[in-house]
Amino acid sequence: MIKASDFGNDFSWGVATAATQIEGAAQLYGKGPSIWDTFSARSGKIKKGHKLDIACDFYHRYREDIQLVKLLGFKVFRFSIAWARILPDGRGEVNQEGIRFYHNLIDECLTQGITPCITLYHWDLPQALENEGGWTSFSINAAFNAFVSLCAAEYGDKVKNWLVLNEPFGFTSLGYMLGIHAPGRTGLSNFFPAVLHTAIAQAEGGKILRAEIQGANIGTTYSCSEIIPYTQSDNDLLAAKRVDCLMNRLFVEPAQGLGFPTENWDVLEKFQIEYGTWRLNERMKFDFDFIGLQNYFPLTIKYNAFIPVIQAWEVKAKSRKKPHTAMGWEINADSFYRIIKQFAAYPNIKNLVISENGAAYHDKITDGNIVDAERIEYFELYLSALLKAKKEGINITGYMAWTLMDNFEWAEGFNARFGLVHTDFKTLTRTIKYSGYWWQEFLRN
Ligand code: BGC
Repeated sequence: MIKASDFGNDFSWGVATAATQIEGAAQLYGKGPSIWDTFSARSGKIKKGHKLDIACDFYHRYREDIQLVKLLGFKVFRFSIAWARILPDGRGEVNQEGIRFYHNLIDECLTQGITPCITLYHWDLPQALENEGGWTSFSINAAFNAFVSLCAAEYGDKVKNWLVLNEPFGFTSLGYMLGIHAPGRTGLSNFFPAVLHTAIAQAEGGKILRAEIQGANIGTTYSCSEIIPYTQSDNDLLAAKRVDCLMNRLFVEPAQGLGFPTENWDVLEKFQIEYGTWRLNERMKFDFDFIGLQNYFPLTIKYNAFIPVIQAWEVKAKSRKKPHTAMGWEINADSFYRIIKQFAAYPNIKNLVISENGAAYHDKITDGNIVDAERIEYFELYLSALLKAKKEGINITGYMAWTLMDNFEWAEGFNARFGLVHTDFKTLTRTIKYSGYWWQEFLRN
């Protein structure tokens, strides 16, 4: 049986969350609207029309929830700052009540012996900035930098672990190309400028934290997926390479001063030329102390001429009769091991932390218990793969489980349950799942 001590005594174990998904109080205490408040109010955007006004009510229950983090045995709590809670218009006037909330939360973590880890941007852009063009607009960079400076000045004395962005590919693709996440925009003419400004923001955010916080440990996170060609045909191999450029390489390479990955895909080459991105290579570069990897699934990719631009198609786990979670995401711990190796192969990456990993299942309460054996098995498999990578000498220094409690899973609403703790969204009662107890035991040993 795998144990936490197999990873060494200085390995850091945490659990991750994000403001929009748990806080609630979305329109209270001076908070301005975020793009998720606006998007979730539009009909048909969130499954079953779920709203995020209350979510898990973490805003009012953070003390008990930090106690849960402690009870489960985690030493690190990752949370994000809702930009519009502290800057309701995205810039300018500061909402002191919002500032106080995060001070209280940080103090509570420290009092309970939990190390806070802050994500600056976990997808909840202030609506006021979206009205100016959001991530597609050049003006976003100055606004983001001012937000980072404010957070550094307020919290930098107490918090040393920082993540600049959560999954830049996630929010630029889902929100600005496919339109299934906020702000619901589509097409390459939105996606490419959003990608460019986001790549600048991740580096400039890092530089500001470095300049303003003594002893800061600065990272940023990337979604990552091993891309597996469906067959070894040239068409499938090339399609897989294109998807790899987007899903794995698009943001990590500019951060290392390599620019955008253009060699396998003429569309990205055109983007580079049209936007003159190579002139910004220095501006997009930042030497992160660590890179946060977030892995949920591999993708099997097949060439398909009918799919515009990318000409690639995912062959789903279900249709290949592979084990998958309630999201339909393939369970494949070997692919987790391989994608860690792919990122570790960049010579400039010093240190990796798994900043999210977890699984959604159709959990049910029976006699007050949630026996989520599948989730336990999932963690056992994935942690074993992680240990294998670590034992091979890859510098992996931490792992954060996704997520503390069932929450607002973006466009899926409350339907997808990823938590180690069950949330009853009617009564807001928390019930520790068997997987939560499994973690408690795992971390004890
Ligand atoms: C995001 C989380 C999300 C999780 C599961 C990650 O992409 O950072 O906010 O809940 O995946 O979908």
